[in-house]
Amino acid sequence: MSVLVTGSSGRVGSAVVSRLLEEGEGVRGLDLRPSGRAHANFTEVTGALSDPQAVETAMEGVTCVLHLGAFMSWAPADRARMFSANVEGTRILLDAAAHGGIRRFVFASSGEVYPENQPQFLPVTEEHPLVPNSPYGLTKLLGEELVRFHQRAGRMETVILRFSHTQDASELLDEESSFSGPRFFLRPRIRQQEAFGNQAVADLLRAKDPGQPAHVAARNEEGRPFRMHITDTRDMVEGVVLALRSEGASGQVFNLGATDPVDLGSLVRSMAENTGLPVVEVDLPGAGVWYHTSNDKIRRLLGFEPQWTIDRMVEEAVQVRRARLAKTRA
Ligand SMILES: NC(=O)c1ccc[n+]([C@@H]2O[C@H](COP(=O)([O-])OP(=O)(O)OC[C@H]3O[C@@H](n4cnc5c(N)ncnc54)[C@H](O)[C@@H]3O)[C@@H](O)[C@H]2O)c1
Repeated sequence: MSVLVTGSSGRVGSAVVSRLLEEGEGVRGLDLRPSGRAHANFTEVTGALSDPQAVETAMEGVTCVLHLGAFMSWAPADRARMFSANVEGTRILLDAAAHGGIRRFVFASSGEVYPENQPQFLPVTEEHPLVPNSPYGLTKLLGEELVRFHQRAGRMETVILRFSHTQDASELLDEESSFSGPRFFLRPRIRQQEAFGNQAVADLLRAKDPGQPAHVAARNEEGRPFRMHITDTRDMVEGVVLALRSEGASGQVFNLGATDPVDLGSLVRSMAENTGLPVVEVDLPGAGVWYHTSNDKIRRLLGFEPQWTIDRMVEEAVQVRRARLAKTRA
């Protein structure tokens, strides 16, 4: 079997490529950014999902597609680029896959299709209504519709995976990380809110700055800490590989992510015990993020069993942060 992995230079895509190569598969990558990877069983096309020529070249000789490439952005200025990559790119890829006789097509969707951050019921199951409230979530829902269309219309097996929020453990305690920096550190959060144009929130956060780097623990307006899933990339790789290979996955939609949600208040406190930074608690306007998404279906049907609890992830993040700081000091 030869597998096309889109987003092959990204967080999940590159880890999936490594895993498939370790297992002796032939892999083709497609990404805007070259991976720099050299391996006898790996070839890559550097190009855009929305470029039919690049997609056609990438599709040559492959039997299955793992469509993990996408542009994730919540910035209004990125809207056109995001729809081009995530919607038009997915359409072009699906058409080429159907035309090329691809056997199975696995699509990385997102919990933002529900959306998890404003659930109608908990835990969020695959039956939850699909009413995204972010343009990014909308691009993923439109991508799902394109996949469902091909599933109805053709002979290609399809699998939709609604990804949990996903991180490399090494990103968790990195102020520069695009996700974890603003989530767990006060000053990166202020910069993020300013970039989003949320000046009132930025001012609220800045008023709490203790004059030194600090963690931030966001709570809702009633003081309830945020709660969400944070899944390790390595567990996502397991789920993607199961979706690629399991007979029972064909035609299905699965939530893919960690079993238990994480209370961000406790998480930040356990981070602070290791970093020695103060924790600033901030009550933000609104109901806040507080969800639990069920991974019961993928565990039951495909035998998915996540290994990387948040405690294990933090342990690793602490080691990586210590090594990084020691290097900076040297
Ligand atoms: N990481 C998360 O928290 C999360 C959550 C839900 C869903 N997802 C989805 O999972 C998938 C993998 O996420 P990730 O964390 O590895 O993201 P990532 O940003 O690390 O990787 C995405 C890759 O896609 C590539 N890409 C972007 N636009 C492209 C285009 N137009 N043409 C070709 N390549 C393009 C990027 O260069 C990047 O290497 C994505 O589809 C993402 O939308 C991720």
